[in-house]
Amino acid sequence: MEKVIEINAIEKSFGKTKALNKVSFEVNKGEIVGFIGPNGAGKSTTIRILLGLIKADGGSATLFGKDVWKDAVDIHKRVAYVPGDVNLWPNLTGGQVIDLFLSMRGAKVDKERKEELIKRFEFDPTKKCRAYSKGNRQKVALIAAFSAEADVYIFDEPTAGLDPLQERVFQRCAREVLDKGASVLLSSHILSEVEQLCDRVAIIRQGEIVESGSLVDLRHLTRSQITLKTKEDIHTIDSQDFAHDVTRDKGEIVFQLDSDHLDDFLRFIQPYTVLKLESAPPKLEDLFMRHYESTKGGV
Ligand SMILES: Nc1ncnc2c1ncn2[C@@H]1O[C@H](COP(=O)(O)OP(=O)(O)OP(=O)(O)O)[C@@H](O)[C@H]1O
Ligand SMILES: [Mg+2]
Repeated sequence: MEKVIEINAIEKSFGKTKALNKVSFEVNKGEIVGFIGPNGAGKSTTIRILLGLIKADGGSATLFGKDVWKDAVDIHKRVAYVPGDVNLWPNLTGGQVIDLFLSMRGAKVDKERKEELIKRFEFDPTKKCRAYSKGNRQKVALIAAFSAEADVYIFDEPTAGLDPLQERVFQRCAREVLDKGASVLLSSHILSEVEQLCDRVAIIRQGEIVESGSLVDLRHLTRSQITLKTKEDIHTIDSQDFAHDVTRDKGEIVFQLDSDHLDDFLRFIQPYTVLKLESAPPKLEDLFMRHYESTKGGV
């Protein structure tokens, strides 16, 4: 598989702060990878290194096999980037800034596509940028990013200021560029967005990748919540290896089930008369929270 983004053991310190410690991950062609982690974990620092805006202290980072620091000029023709905090020229209109961003990228602009995006994002391009809200400033950068084709789209919390409807527009646009074969790196705090869009995720915490892989694989690390009601009382469930945090409420038993013990559980309930059985799938949030909470406890 063709690797479009390749980060290998990069390190970065700011004074005494070790922002990144041997961070490695990759994004293949046509793939979208979610990059998640708590505040200050090192997401933006990694992305800024990838864009050649700051230099890593060690390790290597390449885009299309080229060094992100030395070959920045070649690389940037093929990359679209949207930061989480978009700064605009206050005295220009949104429409003017979209055009300016696009000319800076030197990309071939698809005018029809641009107009279509302005409509889809319900954006008014005629106002001066100083008058735009955070969400609207975000839209300027998103419309510019999606108006010209790129091989890689790098988003650093692109939907932080968008309402849920506009967030969905973003998701559709991301799918469209993926369908065309582009690759996407999406740093986000919105876990549902990452779950819906991403093939793989990398979770970063205190400058280190603590978990990475396909969402399917990572779900195995988590537990489903089971709600069970049977005609007979089941007292022995508490002592089963597969059941965690067993509670009882109005004749229903609620517990956490290890994903890889599903079969044991089904065999266990076989002799009983099952009146209700509900299983809530494990969520990325549970996995994330586990790491997030250990961060809070750790510092
Ligand atoms: N220019 C800088 N000077 C000093 N420290 C910095 C600088 N940039 C980042 N840091 C530190 O590096 C660490 C990682 O920051 P970074 O902005 O990459 O986190 P993040 O994951 O993007 O967080 P957030 O979710 O809040 O955007 C933090 O401890 C931050 O304080
Ligand atoms: Mg950040």
